[in-house]
Amino acid sequence: MDNHIPEACIVLFGATGDLAHRKLYPALFQLYQKEKLNEKFAVIGVGRKDFSHEKFREDVIASVAKTGDFPSEKVDTFASHFYFIPMDVTNEKSYHQLKELADELDSTYSLNGNRMYYLAMAPQFFGTIPTFLKSEGLTETSGWQRLVIEKPFGHDLASATELNEQLQRSFPEESIYRIDHYLGKEMVQNIQVIRFGNAIFESIWNNKYISSVQITSSETLGVEDRASYYEKSGAILDMLQNHMLQMAMMVAMEPPGGLDPKLIRDEKVKVLRALRFYNEDEVAKNIIRGQYKEGSMNGKTVPAYVDEENVDPASKTDTFVAARIFIDNFRWAGVPFYLRTGKRMATKATEIVVQFKNGPMALYHEHNDHYQPNLLRIHIQPDEGLSLSLNAKPQGDFPALLPINMNYCNNCQNELNTPEAYEKLMHDCLQGNSTYFTRWDEVALSWEFIDGITNAWKNKDIPLFKYSSGTMGPLEAEELLNEDGYTWWPPTNVRNEINQ
Ligand code: BG6
Repeated sequence: MDNHIPEACIVLFGATGDLAHRKLYPALFQLYQKEKLNEKFAVIGVGRKDFSHEKFREDVIASVAKTGDFPSEKVDTFASHFYFIPMDVTNEKSYHQLKELADELDSTYSLNGNRMYYLAMAPQFFGTIPTFLKSEGLTETSGWQRLVIEKPFGHDLASATELNEQLQRSFPEESIYRIDHYLGKEMVQNIQVIRFGNAIFESIWNNKYISSVQITSSETLGVEDRASYYEKSGAILDMLQNHMLQMAMMVAMEPPGGLDPKLIRDEKVKVLRALRFYNEDEVAKNIIRGQYKEGSMNGKTVPAYVDEENVDPASKTDTFVAARIFIDNFRWAGVPFYLRTGKRMATKATEIVVQFKNGPMALYHEHNDHYQPNLLRIHIQPDEGLSLSLNAKPQGDFPALLPINMNYCNNCQNELNTPEAYEKLMHDCLQGNSTYFTRWDEVALSWEFIDGITNAWKNKDIPLFKYSSGTMGPLEAEELLNEDGYTWWPPTNVRNEINQ
């Protein structure tokens, strides 16, 4: 892939919103200061507020300043590329003004008509904006046109299909960049390199040697001020349908024939095609849903989900989900993948644990309390790295065992400068590299799988287990693994001790 970043106009819808301030402006600035952004660039912020260009630039400068202490001259020059248009995105006439400004900046900065439209907006506008961009002639330039779209991409297969059909009337699939920000995380991208760049792993990466895989993404925060969205999504649509399944695909995919985005995405989608879909009884057995109760976090009492602002006191929304899934193909037949995610849990951490089978002869592990199965842990966040746990002999008293860990820390190597997910994803999109964006067939299959679960939850009396805030979720999520002879790593009692 060519590393050249072409000149471009970035049209950002939702320019005064939270995502733009917290993530997108700092990410663009990082690209700028690392000289990964072409000097010829302009950003048009679109929002409802009546901002002048000047006021918008002050806003951008303030959001960049929150992320570090940067030379003010550099930040000012960066912000001078920003322009603002107040508009109602549902009114097609307002797009004429946008077109005028985009055309003008195109010639001021010699942008060759290249445009990236970023929709950091509420999902009800995802269909409207691209339709008007096309009908009002914004996409008719001599350069490339790319559409970046945030989640949620629909709320089930039917709504996602409808949205997709609407988008594709204005932008072809290869120009649509659906964001899953987990795919922009350093260590999620590193899974591919660890697997396919090391013969020692790839040769044992299958059901002959691996007994199970766990993926946990736990959060300490509660619903915060997002109840109106979260009440309808719950953990299953918010995290499992996208981030968790994406990580599972990265762990389970076959080696691609090359590094072309299409080849990689082809292999990822095959994992979803092999996913075992559950009937309603199987959902009850394999998927555990939970909701946080009041509890203690860092010495403070935090409210139950149902007592949070704007949450229905009788809400049945899941704030936790644990799933046992199976990928029925040659490589993974019989290997459970356990996925677990939730809010108000004991720690904020994302980790993948690959558990290997014990050796064929119980020379050391039988009756030895110190024996630990070999685990390869991929730490996604907050620490980034790898660790491999092995058993060794301690000095002296043979035959006791000593579990040891070999650690690699990724963010220690790169110091504090690991690029944020959004920085990498914007860079990739500007380069036209769609590897770490989700393709429609992946999205459709993941919805089909998730719809099976949510429909069962609607139709059958499947319990919603309560868990205390500050724990690792309901006991039933532990039992899901215990019944197969496994435990979540690190075992919950260890995790609780760590957090006391
Ligand atoms: C978002 C979800 O997609 O991911 C949020 O909507 C969640 O609810 C967030 O908090 C977690 O992302 P990260 O990068 O903080 O793990």
